[in-house]
Amino acid sequence: AGGGSDKIDYVFKVVLIGDSAVGKSQILARFARNEFTLDSKATIGVEFQTRTLVIQHKSVKAQIWDTAGQERYRAVTSAYYRGAVGALIVYDITRRQSFDHIPRWLEELRSHADKNIVIMLVGNKTDLEDQRAVPMEDAREFAQKENLFFLETSALNATNVENAFQTLLTEIF
Ligand code: GTP
Ligand code: MG
Repeated sequence: AGGGSDKIDYVFKVVLIGDSAVGKSQILARFARNEFTLDSKATIGVEFQTRTLVIQHKSVKAQIWDTAGQERYRAVTSAYYRGAVGALIVYDITRRQSFDHIPRWLEELRSHADKNIVIMLVGNKTDLEDQRAVPMEDAREFAQKENLFFLETSALNATNVENAFQTLLTEIF
């Protein structure tokens, strides 16, 4: 199509953080390529993927950065957060510990990222409802107290993945 349809109006850097194995890389794979892998490997270092969306008639390129939840595989923290305008902090609704660690991730984010960064708390793996260990109400309360957006997702069946990024990017916009 004509009319400059490939023109990018904005580039937004968004970072994914949270414990290892909560599903950060699969959320990104779902969002960027509509793919999902059950036996995905732990991320080593930093990877990123992009997807361009239209938000309020503007073309927005989301550049999503993904890093290792495991300390020993993590890259330099300050570089990871530099220039980020949005963050998804992810936990696994079937692993209480991954939720209990959220304050630590929040602290890291608040000490390294821009103070105006838009943050969304994401409880992933809702397809495993029968193994739920984190009540939605606990997370909602925490998010309210800390002024975070909040959604539950499933990278496996794609529930709310699009919604999470759309909400975050629209807020940034
Ligand atoms: P690190 O790279 O080590 O920080 O982990 P990660 O947070 O990137 O986790 P990853 O995306 O690699 O997913 C870990 C495991 O959980 C993999 O076996 C995924 O297939 C699985 N997984 C991710 N998302 C979901 C989901 O929504 N539902 C289910 N059932 N499994 C998921
Ligand atoms: Mg990963």
